[in-house]
Amino acid sequence: MLHKHLIACLALLCAFPIASLAAGPPPILLGAAWYPEQWPESRWPDDLKLMEAAHIHLVRVGEFAWSRLEPQEGQFDLDWLDRAIALAARHGIWVVVGTPSAAPPAWLTQKYPDTLRTEQDGRRAKHGNRQQGSPTSVFYREFCRRIADQMARRFGHNPNVIGWQIDNEYGAFSWDDDTHRQFQDWLRERYGTLDSLNQHWTTEYWSQTYNDWSQIPMGPGGNPGLNLEFKRFVTASIRDFQHIQVQAIRAASDERQFVTSNFMGWYDAFDHYALTAELDLASWDDYVGTGHLDVLRNGMTHDLTRGFKRKNFWVMETQPGFVNWAPVNNALDRGEVRAMAWHAVGHGADAVSYWQWRSALNGQEEYHGTLLGPDGTPVPLYGEVAQIGREFEQAGPAMAGTSPVADVAILQSYDSRWAINGQRHNQNFDPVALLLSYYKPVREILQQVDVVSPDAPLAAYRLVIAPGLNVLPDDTAQRLIDYVNAGGHLVLGPRSGMKDTYNALQTARQPGPLVPLLGGRVEQYYALNEEAPVSGTWGSGKARLWAEQLKSDGAEVLLTYGESNGWLDGQPAVLSRKAGKGRITYIGAWLDDTLMRAATQWMIGLSGLQPAFGPVPEGVEVSRRVGGSKVVFVLVNHTKSPQHVALPRPMQSVLHDGAAASALDLPPRGVEVLR
Ligand code: GLA
Ligand code: GLA
Repeated sequence: MLHKHLIACLALLCAFPIASLAAGPPPILLGAAWYPEQWPESRWPDDLKLMEAAHIHLVRVGEFAWSRLEPQEGQFDLDWLDRAIALAARHGIWVVVGTPSAAPPAWLTQKYPDTLRTEQDGRRAKHGNRQQGSPTSVFYREFCRRIADQMARRFGHNPNVIGWQIDNEYGAFSWDDDTHRQFQDWLRERYGTLDSLNQHWTTEYWSQTYNDWSQIPMGPGGNPGLNLEFKRFVTASIRDFQHIQVQAIRAASDERQFVTSNFMGWYDAFDHYALTAELDLASWDDYVGTGHLDVLRNGMTHDLTRGFKRKNFWVMETQPGFVNWAPVNNALDRGEVRAMAWHAVGHGADAVSYWQWRSALNGQEEYHGTLLGPDGTPVPLYGEVAQIGREFEQAGPAMAGTSPVADVAILQSYDSRWAINGQRHNQNFDPVALLLSYYKPVREILQQVDVVSPDAPLAAYRLVIAPGLNVLPDDTAQRLIDYVNAGGHLVLGPRSGMKDTYNALQTARQPGPLVPLLGGRVEQYYALNEEAPVSGTWGSGKARLWAEQLKSDGAEVLLTYGESNGWLDGQPAVLSRKAGKGRITYIGAWLDDTLMRAATQWMIGLSGLQPAFGPVPEGVEVSRRVGGSKVVFVLVNHTKSPQHVALPRPMQSVLHDGAAASALDLPPRGVEVLR
């Protein structure tokens, strides 16, 4: 018996002609992860009709289908995928093809066990899960190259294929002897001589001195210099693993097809700037897990991903209601999935794709949220997703060619996060939480901010904030000095300028090479077990987790500690100084939210910055996208009550065909796009 939703959808479909792909993909895409290999081909038309009825114009396919694409060594069968892509096109659906290197087939690992990863405890990974292939195995890389090459030759000129995803969520690593040797070779290449390595790692400490490269252990867990280099080595290894596939695809595909990989937000096993450098597009998998959307933290993660390539990004996967791997896999509320989709678009996503369309009947993730049930008909969320699809189509022309633009940059550095996480000193000192404490008030007040690498071009920013730039190599320091001299305002947070590029202590006090510019320095740092009072220009409040006793040598003192551990009492907590045409400010403590808000007001006042939109009620998020003469605002009411928003000037509703208005009433979890 056909489900009533299905009947309604099929009826709807008959009203539309089969879509054509001639015009190219819509500017904002709604998609789903589709696994045609899991279903009889006779079922595909029904799936695609239901997708089309939900305004889905994108499927990602193939990323786990290796055993179907190469059922036996060297025997390739790509015909079925060709047919699936062609059929999708007939329903107005474009395709991203994933390379299947995250799921090697059983014949491969059985015949070539050396392609399997070795876990950190020395045991070899087994078939039956995924990511069992070793990204450092030369042999495994060759099998991955070969299948990517076959796929590129087959689909590289297919007009319905718009892009490629390499692998799936990189991260698994191998601890085998060969990888260990690769690490030693990589170090030799980097340091040239053991004397240099011994010196930079201060290996005299605990008799670590090496007189042969083969003696060097593979991190992490030991010397901080080694730990940081190990992260860089993992980065280089995964980049090589990726590069081999990127090359294979580029060699046989149209330039029009992009190459991406799906990353995991703040995951820090490798440097994402290094990995995304050769990709055309950054994308990420946006999962909430237990609970509900944390608007600011999630927004910061979108901005992080946008910052990888400093351009719009994709949400390659997101949850249709709920996941299957969290402590409690609660569903997002009715309306929350839609709010989350628009939240992503506001932050610069040009596609939002659900994982997954329909659950495999067996396999590890039977309980994960989907858009269809096991009977092949829509689940309750399907209607909400179809609404998102309709709205993406409607808003597409207005949003085409637009991106978020910001006057403020927050710097995030993998080196600094790795260095701090390796020696937190206060177990609660989470560098991402520190970043968020700066991000939150800037985003709330200005409604725009970028999150970028310290190596990004900074000249266009009026304000650059580096919350915890612990590792500060000389060349980065020089770029920051140039930025200030040219008129920018650089704000440093606690623990900045403490380490060099080898994770060794700088011989100058913090902030190391920036001490002369600041006209002040850190006398001593203290991990706080109790809060410490602070007061001054930004009002009164508390320092928590971390406090540095500063000393001015010509800088203004903006905040001073009250009575605390004796050492901090009456000492400066924040220094600021005009330098060149700009200014440098050093904040030596982790400040509470109220002080951070006041500090932010002060910073944006000094820089003469204005909010992108204007005041909105709490719980309403506004994002701006700009392109050419276009300015588009996305407003999302993340609360469960109606909200009244005053408009800064008359605007037009994109979603509701409304004319100019001075105010807007957003229903609970309501969304509006204005121009
Ligand atoms: C012990 C060890 C020292 C040093 C200190 C400080 O006392 O003997 O070498 O590690 O702890 O942690
Ligand atoms: C990740 C993976 C998907 C799927 C989802 C849901 O994002 O990329 O294959 O496993 O998680 O758990």
